[in-house]
Amino acid sequence: MKIGVYPGSFDPFTIGHLDVLKNAAGLFDTVFVAVLNNNAKSPVFSVDDRVEMIDRMIETEGLTNVRSGSFSGLLVDYAKQIGAQYLIRGLRAITDFDYEFQIDAVNRHLNPDIRTVYFMANPAHSFLSSSSVREIGEMGGSIEGLVPACNYEYILERLARQK
Ligand code: PNS
Repeated sequence: MKIGVYPGSFDPFTIGHLDVLKNAAGLFDTVFVAVLNNNAKSPVFSVDDRVEMIDRMIETEGLTNVRSGSFSGLLVDYAKQIGAQYLIRGLRAITDFDYEFQIDAVNRHLNPDIRTVYFMANPAHSFLSSSSVREIGEMGGSIEGLVPACNYEYILERLARQK
């Protein structure tokens, strides 16, 4: 049974993330989307909000082999705890590579048995990031086509509440 963990801040989960997730769901028996629980990163959306949005997306997209979760502490420890042998990450551009290279080196050092699988982002999403979604939403722009449609209103309502 091949189990993968797709970790991230997902603040919020975008359609770029969804593209990577669908690719991973086609390759692995089970994929856990794991939200990092780390307030040091000053997330805009709470862990509960992010997991709720991911659950709604999983349901709407009919991703039957995808589960949600959250973790604090080391990612490789979480992966081991849930029986995952693979980590999943997306790469948008060369600028992501340096960051991912460093994360991979640390994770390999911590647990050489866990490997990371990378999916190239759809070029149509290469400009897209959670921070751009937050900024557009906060400034009253449209986030349609940037995040799963089932979460548009939830995201805009949460962003408005924080003003
Ligand atoms: O979406 P992000 O913020 O780029 O995801 C970063 C993430 C969650 C993959 C990374 O910060 C992480 O794994 N944090 C958990 C702590 C950890 O395991 N650190 C060692 C590897 S950097």
